[in-house]
Amino acid sequence: MDEILNRRSIRKYDLSKQISYENLLTLCKYAESAPSAKNQRSREYIIVDDKKIIDELSLVAKGTMILSECNTLIVPVGKSPNTISRPEMQAEDLSAATENILIAATKFGFGSCWCGIYPIEDRINKVNEILNIKDGKFAFSIIALGYPLNKDEFKDKNKFSLDLVTHNRG
Ligand SMILES: Cc1cc2nc3c(=O)[nH]c(=O)nc-3n(C[C@H](O)[C@H](O)[C@H](O)COP(=O)(O)O)c2cc1C
Repeated sequence: MDEILNRRSIRKYDLSKQISYENLLTLCKYAESAPSAKNQRSREYIIVDDKKIIDELSLVAKGTMILSECNTLIVPVGKSPNTISRPEMQAEDLSAATENILIAATKFGFGSCWCGIYPIEDRINKVNEILNIKDGKFAFSIIALGYPLNKDEFKDKNKFSLDLVTHNRG
């Protein structure tokens, strides 16, 4: 699974190239194939390729400033907690979906970077406002996407070591 090992957070993109809408929909399909608690499927997705909106989102927090370097993003959105059966596990549902997008993007040769929004209320409110997310729904993360300026960034940095693992008990 090279796309898992080689995935890196990419923060510089070639703005002369644009990921097609069809490919972005495919990334959303991969996202939605992620598991969810009780199969509650508590997620939706907003595709953003309007640079003006992206630049607004880049001002939400220090961590989102990198968005000004991309021309496409996907925002996984949580459905209203009142409408799902296990709201206490919704963050896990959304994390799994977010990670699927990062891995699938790497497979396609797209760069990606997860910008954290949830559970920081100030960030959620700002993104909800900019993207007109309402009725109890909320922005979970922002995933920057695009063609990386430097393709060499895809490489296995080997974060694993055997001391992270114990056998049978912790
Ligand atoms: C929950 C979460 C929030 C993150 N938020 C940001 C962010 O706001 N801005 C950013 O540039 N990177 C963000 N990242 C990416 C991390 O900085 C990155 O994964 C980490 O430095 C390891 O680098 P790698 O992804 O290349 O392995 C976030 C990652 C996670 C999982």
